[in-house]
Amino acid sequence: MGFDRKYLIWALGYVAFGMCVGIYMAASKNHGQLVAHAHILLVGFVVSFVYAIIHKLWLPQPGRALATAQFVLHQAAALVMFAGLLLLYGEVLPEPTLAPMLGIASIGVLVAALLMSFMVLRAGRGQMVAR
Ligand code: HEM
Ligand code: HEM
Repeated sequence: MGFDRKYLIWALGYVAFGMCVGIYMAASKNHGQLVAHAHILLVGFVVSFVYAIIHKLWLPQPGRALATAQFVLHQAAALVMFAGLLLLYGEVLPEPTLAPMLGIASIGVLVAALLMSFMVLRAGRGQMVAR
């Protein structure tokens, strides 16, 4: 399966999950999970969907190892971030306990974004040489 489709499937998983959290907030009249909801939908659904489009349009043949590392890093860091945010805003664990986990997850999401930029720049250079 190509990385465009992998990202698309994960994005659609996050949209359902994020909407469930949204519906839970609306139904319970407790909007405490707003930050988790927003990031599941934005870092999970929207960013994964954008990565799917980038793969589809600009990365027809990405380096397999780098694309795999980028994909695994984004999804692992995003899942850790969402778990941390749900635990934090659900008041299950205190902020000092969760802060390192959230910090590492945030850096993971950032590094994955930088890796995506690197792959796009590298692919663009390859195309220019081919022309
Ligand atoms: C079933 C669909 C959805 C439901 C029931 C829902 C519900 C909610 C609720 C109850 C809030 C808290 C509002 C507040 O207290 O200010 C909220 C906030 C938010 N939602 Fe959703 N939502 C849904 C879909 C989405 C989608 C698809 C996105 C983005 C792709 C999204 C992005 C956001 C964002 C960014 C916030 C935070 C807004 C702020 O900072 O005030 N939501 N949503
Ligand atoms: C490394 C990744 C990210 C980190 C560490 C991060 C962190 C944060 C923090 C600390 C807040 C303030 C939460 C509060 O109100 O207490 C916030 C809010 C927000 N972020 Fe992010 N963010 C990240 C990625 C993103 C991305 C990629 C998007 C959009 C595509 C986004 C959209 C938003 C929005 C709309 C809000 C306001 C809604 C809310 O209060 O939750 N964030 N973010």
